[in-house]
Amino acid sequence: MKAEVIVGSQWGDEGKGKIVDVLSESFDIVVRYQGGANAGHTVEFENKKFVLHLIPSGILRSGCQCIIGNGVVLDPRALLDEIKFLEESDIQVKGRLFISSNTHIIMPYHKLIDSLQEGGKLKIGSTGRGIGPCYTDKASRRGIRMHDLLTKDILLEKIKFNIEEKKMFFGHEQLSGISAEDIAGFFHEYGLLLKDYIMDTAYFLNESMSRNKKILLEGAQGAALDIDFGTYPYVTSSNTISGGATCGTGIAPVNIGKVLGIVKAYTTRVGEGPFPTEQLNEDGQLLQKAGFEFGATTGRPRRCGWYDANLVRYSAMINGFKIAALTKLDVLSAFDKIPLCVAYKLNGEQINRFPADLDSLGKLEPVYKVFQGWKDTDITSCKSFSELPLNAQKYINAIEKYSKIKFSIISVGPKREQTITR
Ligand code: GDP
Ligand code: IMO
Ligand code: MG
Repeated sequence: MKAEVIVGSQWGDEGKGKIVDVLSESFDIVVRYQGGANAGHTVEFENKKFVLHLIPSGILRSGCQCIIGNGVVLDPRALLDEIKFLEESDIQVKGRLFISSNTHIIMPYHKLIDSLQEGGKLKIGSTGRGIGPCYTDKASRRGIRMHDLLTKDILLEKIKFNIEEKKMFFGHEQLSGISAEDIAGFFHEYGLLLKDYIMDTAYFLNESMSRNKKILLEGAQGAALDIDFGTYPYVTSSNTISGGATCGTGIAPVNIGKVLGIVKAYTTRVGEGPFPTEQLNEDGQLLQKAGFEFGATTGRPRRCGWYDANLVRYSAMINGFKIAALTKLDVLSAFDKIPLCVAYKLNGEQINRFPADLDSLGKLEPVYKVFQGWKDTDITSCKSFSELPLNAQKYINAIEKYSKIKFSIISVGPKREQTITR
């Protein structure tokens, strides 16, 4: 049985957590394959609300096993806190969650370097979780991996080497408060606490597939934050697109079946960087208020703007999805008129592509087609497409047409049952 992938199609926070939760009822295993505790995936049901940062959203379905793949960068302290929080809420984690022994570990010096870099000339607006510096060490072959936590003397050697080297780059005084011995002590402890969770997840996943187990791969962030295809350098440090799911798990491309894009009915972004359809006006403020657009990880207000069909078309192309889930349609009930960006103008010429370079991205003028809204009609309990107001149906049809995708799911509220399938 082939695995399926869920990916964010914009700048993250599209509602991946909610859709993974809805779908995971019919999956055996849910896997995170990239990113780290920069992610915040929210799931709401039975008046309970869970925000998951590292653990796959499938943990909330008792029939699901969950995997943190090798492509993730893992903060063990954050993970232990998340496990504790879930177990206090009567969600069994031990015995259901497994971590790849190759997963890279976020160290205290990664978080420190993240904040030093943010204070420098290139401010990305990172979540401060040490993501970029940890992936830097992975790529430059200095990383410390999950299984390294289990052997204290090897761990100490690796940490000492890393701290000495980082002192050369960032200055002795910047890292003076960091002690290799202390870190090795704490992280070895974390390793022992997590020992039973560690396994060779690539074998586990491939063997599970051959036993016809259904596997769902849960992406974090979104295509426009992808390190290769996003608005570089204002991106995260991993491949967020569906291709990242193979490298981050050990599931080969031939074993990936469906890719489902998660598409918000408007656009948001957290942090710095270009955002062609951003609304720095009352409309943007109303989107933020009606959509409660505040970061699930950092609490920062999310920048808001209209739907960008050029971006989603590009995202569908690089991720390989033709079918998607539309989320937060209910938020648009606050508007009389709803503009939809169908193309851009660049230096007076119309373009239908999402440009890669910052210079062009900064000069884009969105071309909008304006749709009549369904203001003040509450759509949060609609159960079918035909129950939606006609203007909402027209808006959805237009998004599908301009983005060249079809929606199999339409989400009209944060709760499980506020989901239309067709
Ligand atoms: P993720 O990072 O993609 O999982 O998304 P987040 O959880 O960071 O942000 C999405 C927010 O929107 C969460 O608070 C969800 O509970 C909420 N949400 C998801 N789908 C809907 C929807 O259809 N309508 C509304 N109003 N809220 C939604
Ligand atoms: P989910 O999975 C939205 C953004 C940060 C910053 C940039 C780099 O909840 O959709 P990083 O800490 O990764 O080095 O920050 O990426 N960012 C996200 N934005 N949702 C996320 O995750 C994000 N994870 C990182 O705001 O602009
Ligand atoms: Mg989020």
